[in-house]
Amino acid sequence: MQANSRRISSQQQRPHPDLHRLVTRHLDTRWQRPLHTLTPPVLEALSDALAGGRPLVLDSFCGTGHSTRILAQWHPDCTVIGVDKSSSRLARHGERSDDNYLLLRAQCEEVWAWLAAQGCRLQAHYLLYPNPWPKPAQLQRRVHGHPGFASLLRLGGRLELRCNWQVYAEEFGLALAVAGLLPAVSRLPEGDPLSLFERKYRNSGHPLWRCLAQVTCADE
Ligand SMILES: C[S@@+](CC[C@H](N)C(=O)[O-])C[C@H]1O[C@@H](n2cnc3c(N)ncnc32)[C@H](O)[C@@H]1O
Repeated sequence: MQANSRRISSQQQRPHPDLHRLVTRHLDTRWQRPLHTLTPPVLEALSDALAGGRPLVLDSFCGTGHSTRILAQWHPDCTVIGVDKSSSRLARHGERSDDNYLLLRAQCEEVWAWLAAQGCRLQAHYLLYPNPWPKPAQLQRRVHGHPGFASLLRLGGRLELRCNWQVYAEEFGLALAVAGLLPAVSRLPEGDPLSLFERKYRNSGHPLWRCLAQVTCADE
């Protein structure tokens, strides 16, 4: 991974004007897309994790799983599930260092939809540096502009998004507010990097942002 990376450059300097309308629409409809990446081994691993009875932590967009390994140490009583669609990134993880985490190759949005349909509730959900999709026309590809956002909310838990684009963190917070939550958006304090992208961005001097929220579900 290159040591220096460019800051996000976008024509969009503030939250997207269509954000509120789009999020409202997604919250009012159930996402119906077939779950293509939930192969039998992925479903088996998810089912085992649910049946294991430990609280679940999700590390969505986990890349190589560097963060998943650290999160498993932070949450020793939980099962931590790292999900990424890239087999080459996941293959770079190496040997698993603990037995309380697993890495799955799948689309995160499909995993959220499936877990939500099982009634799963997470202890915590980390979204570390999802692809920013910085063009204004790419709003629907961002986590909070995607129809899968409604499933993510149904999973509950302590939500933490980190990114290197302030507009993205603000939009994510606004989308959570549309859902009736009370998010907090702030600069990420200095500290040991939790993920490889975080390390790269820190080394490149990028300001980093985070959005925190406690997601309570209707049945809690
Ligand atoms: C910028 S990288 C961040 C990786 C890691 N979280 C980190 O901070 O080092 C974004 C990751 O998201 C993955 N990704 C993008 N869209 C995805 C999706 N819909 N489902 C699963 N993984 C996805 C990419 O393969 C990539 O590994």
